[in-house]
Amino acid sequence: MAWRWLCLALLVGAAAAAVVPETKVQFDGFRVYRVVPTTQEQVQFLRDIENNDSNNFNFWTRPVLNTSVDIMVSPYLRIDFRDLARSVGLDVQIFIEDVQKLIQDENPKTRSSTYGWQAYYPLTDVYDWLRSLETIYEDRVSIINIGKSYEGRDILGVKISSKREGSKAIFLESGIHAREWITVATATYLINELLTSDNAGIRNISEHFDWYIVPSTNPDGYEYTHSTYRMWRKTRSPGDRCYGADPNRNWGIEWDNDLGSSSDECSETYRGKGKFSEPETKSLSEYLTNMKDELLVYLCFHSYSQVLMIPYGLKGMVADNEPALREIGDKAIEALKQRHNTQYEFGPIYEAIKYEASGGSMDWVKEELKVKYTFEWELRDKGRYGFLLPSTQIIPTADETIDSIVSILQDVQAREANNS
Ligand SMILES: *[C@@H]1O[C@H](CO)[C@@H](O)[C@H](O)[C@H]1NC(C)=O
Ligand SMILES: *[C@@H]1O[C@H](CO)[C@@H](O)[C@H](O)[C@H]1NC(C)=O
Ligand SMILES: *[C@@H]1O[C@H](CO)[C@@H](O)[C@H](O)[C@H]1NC(C)=O
Ligand SMILES: [Zn+2]
Repeated sequence: MAWRWLCLALLVGAAAAAVVPETKVQFDGFRVYRVVPTTQEQVQFLRDIENNDSNNFNFWTRPVLNTSVDIMVSPYLRIDFRDLARSVGLDVQIFIEDVQKLIQDENPKTRSSTYGWQAYYPLTDVYDWLRSLETIYEDRVSIINIGKSYEGRDILGVKISSKREGSKAIFLESGIHAREWITVATATYLINELLTSDNAGIRNISEHFDWYIVPSTNPDGYEYTHSTYRMWRKTRSPGDRCYGADPNRNWGIEWDNDLGSSSDECSETYRGKGKFSEPETKSLSEYLTNMKDELLVYLCFHSYSQVLMIPYGLKGMVADNEPALREIGDKAIEALKQRHNTQYEFGPIYEAIKYEASGGSMDWVKEELKVKYTFEWELRDKGRYGFLLPSTQIIPTADETIDSIVSILQDVQAREANNS
């Protein structure tokens, strides 16, 4: 009975999506529901609707037993979704009443034409700002180009170096998931702090290491979230039925593990046609391989849910130096909390998010390149705004995140000094 309604609504939803291709998709009346599946049947129910009907259901978090799952549901389906969920015994809580309203409030109506952190900016503004740094700080900054995206955009970042003999490198990967805008803003804020701050801790990490920072490692997706579809996550390579692969399931580690990714091209966690099928992950992995001898630290930013993670995303895999990473990470989330009392959880990916994730960049960097210190953030918040974190939270988010990075890197320096 309920399924019949779903199929009807599915057709309506698909038709509605088809009439608005090039214009910006509006999310009026879209809601985000939170459910907590407590049986395997309920988890399976959620996985089915996730994979079969991406027009009407957009999963903001993955369906996992006994954890909260946030699902954006199109208004065509609203009533039926609750009936449907109740038919398998799921309690439904409305978490975001109107997604379009949050989108309107996310960014100020007018934003300064000079790049800054009071608003989220599209890719061209980010890139113009990066290029301007090379001119202003010509002795310390150079533009790095990782390669081209599927649609032919450059994947640009900056290298910041004080040109000290024997400096080790830190690579920061950000924005691999397109809709996680706070990651791009936090990465550029970090760049600015490394170049301008007079805080002793930030000066120290700025000068001690060579920094490679790429704010948007999925530029096609990021551009698409600004121009057309705010909730886009994946790359933009076309498939037979759906666009894009999840660039954080596309790396050559346990790539075809069915527990950690999907083989369905319409899924949000579609792993792609093959390992490194996406030009974005292929070129980034090659870039990292070429610098692996100097690479001491790999950092990556995601959002949302406020967790700091270390490898691995797969049950039974343990990082060779896990005790050290745990000590460093526990201290880092304490440091992060000091500023605005923001609470983070910490742990290996599998333990922290309670589901398996395969083909991820950090795991690959750890396993294949043997990079010693690897950390991944899920930045603010815990679902009140989800991906639509208001731009007024950029600076507090970035400041507290930098506190955790300073903590990590001071520990790393101390440990490396003891080792040598
Ligand atoms: C999940 O939660 C339900 C209800 O609270 C409980 O009965 C069940 O044991 C939990 N399952 C696991 C694997 O923790
Ligand atoms: C969803 O897809 C799965 C696998 O293709 C199939 O078994 C299931 O019946 C589908 N459910 C619906 C509601 O279409
Ligand atoms: C940074 O601080 C550490 C001690 O915490 C020190 O050993 C190192 O020399 C400092 N580096 C710079 C560039 O100031
Ligand atoms: Zn992400």
